[in-house]
Amino acid sequence: MKMQLLGARTAPQFFSRYWQKRPLVVRNAISGFTDLLPQADLFRLASDDDIESRVVRHDAGRWTLEHGPFALSAFKRIPAANWTLLVQGLNLHNQRADKLLRLFNFIPYARLDDVMVSYAVPGGGVGPHTDSYDVFLLQGSGRRLWRVGRVRNPELLKDAPLRILKHFEPEAEYTMEAGDLLYLPPGWAHDGVAIDTCTTYSIGFRAPGRGELLSEFLLRFSERISEECKFPGLYRDPDLRAQSRPSAIPGAMVDKTAAMLSQLRFTRGDIARFLGEYLSEPKPRIVFSRPRRRVSPAQFAAALGKHGVKLSSRTLMLHSQNAVFINGERLSLQGPIRARLVHLADNRELPAGRYSQPLRQLLHDWYVSGWLQIGSGMSHT
Ligand code: SIN
Ligand code: CO
Repeated sequence: MKMQLLGARTAPQFFSRYWQKRPLVVRNAISGFTDLLPQADLFRLASDDDIESRVVRHDAGRWTLEHGPFALSAFKRIPAANWTLLVQGLNLHNQRADKLLRLFNFIPYARLDDVMVSYAVPGGGVGPHTDSYDVFLLQGSGRRLWRVGRVRNPELLKDAPLRILKHFEPEAEYTMEAGDLLYLPPGWAHDGVAIDTCTTYSIGFRAPGRGELLSEFLLRFSERISEECKFPGLYRDPDLRAQSRPSAIPGAMVDKTAAMLSQLRFTRGDIARFLGEYLSEPKPRIVFSRPRRRVSPAQFAAALGKHGVKLSSRTLMLHSQNAVFINGERLSLQGPIRARLVHLADNRELPAGRYSQPLRQLLHDWYVSGWLQIGSGMSHT
């Protein structure tokens, strides 16, 4: 499998010319690319109530949307045309999808979201629309026609169960075949219609809302204010004067509180800590599979030495300066142990080798929680 995700472009060229700026088509980005999973497995995922799935149909301009889980029997009666099934978070359940997501590691993990797969019969698609996030659309089996353009008129179809542009004027169209890749910045209108029965993988990114970032930051900061006693002492007013209107809030009280608030300072460290904790937090429905037959710390140490470890595809791990964040938790570390964990965060695995006792202990705890597994791509077993 030969890979030229960005064609002849380097990652810096991609960022300066395309990222969040304009669409890009790369033919044969992954040559020899084949579907990540058999169709029957995809239908099984769509029948799981822990997995987000949707079916979109259209018929003479009328759109319908159904949310999963779907009974497996529903897939025995798939219409011959104008029908598509979409399954979110494929990377959390399929190793090849996790690997595919990691091919995009020239983009920070803090911005990465998930791999969605869509399976469509001829004519199937979700209609012309815009997304608020960057996306790479990788074609699997079959062909899909993508039409792309700027939004000239944002009006949406009335009474449709999903956001569909009423007036879409494509500026370009591309017939995509296995291994072809289309990058779309947020806000570009696009419409992908299956020519044959086909599969498309969307590698999606996350961009938290500005309001969400602010309120989440303040929420966590306020917890730290009470936990860490950041502002000890009580309100004092030795200069209090007699009041004729006792229900009035004294102006001096407002001034004193304003002065106290103006002492609030957020350091870059506070902000990096917030981003690390927040962005490494697993999504609400994520469940880690703990090892069924867990090995003792000594057996784990031996296995680590021989086979290394690999992060679960559900684990989110980031780092910033001395802090390492894993699944919402922060560790403040220095020295060799930090370097090893940064390697683990970047590469998602640690090779077989000798590791210090404190690190072995930490990795064993994570193993017990189902955050990582024994064995890395580097081991030879
Ligand atoms: C699809 O694969 O059908 C939809 C993906 C998208 O338009 O974002
Ligand atoms: Co889209």
